[in-house]
Amino acid sequence: MINRFERSDILWQRASQIIPLASQTFSKSHQQWVRGAAPLFLSSGSGCRVTDPDGNVYIDYLQGLMTNILGYADPDVDNAVRRQLVRGVSFSLPTPLEADLAERLVEDIPCAEMIRFGKNGSDATTASIRLARAHTGRDRIAVCGYHGWHDWYIGTTTRSAGVPEAIRNLSDTFAFGNMEELTDHLTRHSDAYAAVILEPAGTAMPDPTFLPALRALCDREGVLLIFDEIVTGFRMGPGGAQEHYGVTPDLACFGKAMANGLPISAVVGRREIMTGMEEIFFSGTYGGEALSLAAAIATLDKLKAENVAPRLWTLGESLMARSNDVIGIAGLGEFLAFGGDGWWPRLRIEDPPVDQLLLVSLLRQEFIAAGLILASSYNLCLPHEDDKVQDETIEGLAAALSEVRRHLESPDPAAALRGAQVQPTFSVR
Ligand SMILES: Cc1ncc(COP(=O)(O)O)c(C=O)c1O
Repeated sequence: MINRFERSDILWQRASQIIPLASQTFSKSHQQWVRGAAPLFLSSGSGCRVTDPDGNVYIDYLQGLMTNILGYADPDVDNAVRRQLVRGVSFSLPTPLEADLAERLVEDIPCAEMIRFGKNGSDATTASIRLARAHTGRDRIAVCGYHGWHDWYIGTTTRSAGVPEAIRNLSDTFAFGNMEELTDHLTRHSDAYAAVILEPAGTAMPDPTFLPALRALCDREGVLLIFDEIVTGFRMGPGGAQEHYGVTPDLACFGKAMANGLPISAVVGRREIMTGMEEIFFSGTYGGEALSLAAAIATLDKLKAENVAPRLWTLGESLMARSNDVIGIAGLGEFLAFGGDGWWPRLRIEDPPVDQLLLVSLLRQEFIAAGLILASSYNLCLPHEDDKVQDETIEGLAAALSEVRRHLESPDPAAALRGAQVQPTFSVR
């Protein structure tokens, strides 16, 4: 089945005249899809399914960039939002909801003795870095993974246009798992580093010695250890990666799945450091906006009551195994496989027979044609658990991969593209 995208295309023509990129988020933009063979907008979602403006329905494995852990329009979260909506949204003083939510995070997250809320993940990571700099009196930062759009981080990537060199020079990157590289940075600029910030899992599964060694190195050098748990949080378990691996950072950042799609993030950490929030400036009009707080409380309560994290982990393992069988049957197993832990199965491409971006484009084109919104990972939500959804996914995957195989065997695989090729973005994972 080939979908039609007339309305999407008309909308794109309109939006791209007045909205640069026609999207607020790079990874949601047309650059990530084969334009002409994919929807560029979505109109509604329910559970794990979404509908585009042309009425095409898909099983969504992006899930709003990992926000909708309970699926679109979860009734419990939506009812909590509705109840709050009629009482007010943005108040003139903090609401009791802030402490209600903070208490839940303190209970579950090992390093969380105090909490501050933001709206985006980038708010949380940037606040944690400012706090670390103020706490230590040092300026340098070591980063690993993705940490958002602010200068101190994005200046380390190929998307550094607009970031002053003086800022770029204060951040260093290190490869996940590479203690040697990090030790070298920290000892070369002794007394200069305020913090090491990293995604504790996701990029790769950490070698069991890595996170403890990192903790010991930071302690030795007087550097704060910050876990960016914006992806791992609530998915690896209620206490995040730090609970799973038994390594407690000084500060940690949460967001994404926390409120099932409503905008809220959190910086959490040791009391002695977090009290420094009273001295630095981390403040925003919408910081205590009540709908997101109510949604977060409802989400966290449901995640626990329904034991969601372990269920999704198990689901991910079985989906990954079934998907890899299908990849093998399609004869693509030499360069394509799902890998990683069950909480976040990721599609990996190694040494493909054609240009990587061409292969990515062919895969995404055929996933869409088979009714799957799927890019480079299975971002799971609870409604994906349904057997029918799983069977449909595997059937769709098999159909898509057999088409991709056919294209790869043709004399000119690029000719099989029904639109513009996916464009490169910087890759940090
Ligand atoms: C690990 C990680 N940190 C930080 C961020 C930034 O969050 P936001 O886009 O909400 O600002 C993201 C977003 O994808 C992320 O994956």
